[in-house]
Amino acid sequence: MASKNHGMKALVLSGGKGSRLRPITHTSAKQLIPIVNKPILFYGLEAIAKAGIKEVGIVVGETQAEIRAAVGDGSAFGFKAVYIPQEAPLGLAHAVKISRKFMGDSPFLMFLGDNLLKSGLGPLVDEFFAQKPNAQILVTPVPNPSAFGVVELEGGKVARLVEKPRQPKSDLALVGVYLFDRTIFKAIDHIRPSARGELEITDAIQWLVDNDFTVVSRRTDGWWKDTGKLEDLLEANRLIHETIKHSIHKDARVDALSRLEGRVVLEAGAQVVESVIRGPAVIGANTRIIRSYVGPYSSIYFDALVENSEIEHSIVLEHARIRDIRRIQDSLIGQRVELVRSGAKPEAFRIMAGDSSRFEIP
Ligand code: G1P
Repeated sequence: MASKNHGMKALVLSGGKGSRLRPITHTSAKQLIPIVNKPILFYGLEAIAKAGIKEVGIVVGETQAEIRAAVGDGSAFGFKAVYIPQEAPLGLAHAVKISRKFMGDSPFLMFLGDNLLKSGLGPLVDEFFAQKPNAQILVTPVPNPSAFGVVELEGGKVARLVEKPRQPKSDLALVGVYLFDRTIFKAIDHIRPSARGELEITDAIQWLVDNDFTVVSRRTDGWWKDTGKLEDLLEANRLIHETIKHSIHKDARVDALSRLEGRVVLEAGAQVVESVIRGPAVIGANTRIIRSYVGPYSSIYFDALVENSEIEHSIVLEHARIRDIRRIQDSLIGQRVELVRSGAKPEAFRIMAGDSSRFEIP
């Protein structure tokens, strides 16, 4: 049913500091951290393209150079990307406010760039055009609602929305996908910054409810992850790994002493020497795995090295070097990190770690 020319635009929020993912986010945007060797943001952008949306505004902050370099003019995705700089992270509603000119009178889908969801966006767009509400929100039950915007329903209708309540009255979290018509701009003109100093989209939607505009809600089908923390990234990595297919690039090499078990992806130029890779696992372009074990739910990005080591359930970024390390698990290893055994005396950890790094040592 999704008409490919429905005139809906998208607003993708890719600012924010990613403070809960330091030190990784000291040097790179959280939305570009790869999950199964693809930047988080790209999953959302691909879903937007698939829903037939042709014009996408991307709100960017401090990390804008990196986001622009990764997404470009959008043609690789099949849409036109326009960048909307936000001078400071002043809230989701502030991001909407500054995109007013780009949106004009078009309805739009707002997508938070660090969110990942299993289901596509096409059915949400179709439903929006079928029902023509002023706003359509997506909700899902969560075990920790106070970490999110929380929605209270009464008789199936949206009654109240509260941003990160200390005592949540429901377990329904606001997922980072919203559809709006232009009434949202009027709502934003009426709200004030919250206690955390941000203009909250949650408050703007509450204004719509209070002023008798139509706000409909829908539950997500399938999983949803807000990837703001390490545990969430690892879980998202696990969930996406469940969906990948075994594939070995013709320019990847596996020697006769190595074994690939289960679903394994080897990208161009990947080399596996005297090693065992137990899938689901992905080994990036030109990455070398030598005399090592790479276990389930591992994603090793490009130009990395794992030698004489064991790793499982972890994400390793580009150019990292891991050598002679007995076992690594549940970890996120940043770009160009070196984890090596020196063999030098006295036996001691010798570390040069970035700000906010964390080590758990047995
Ligand atoms: C934001 C919204 C919140 C929503 C969440 C979804 O929170 O304010 O209502 O539930 O995204 O990811 P933030 O990521 O700004 O803490």
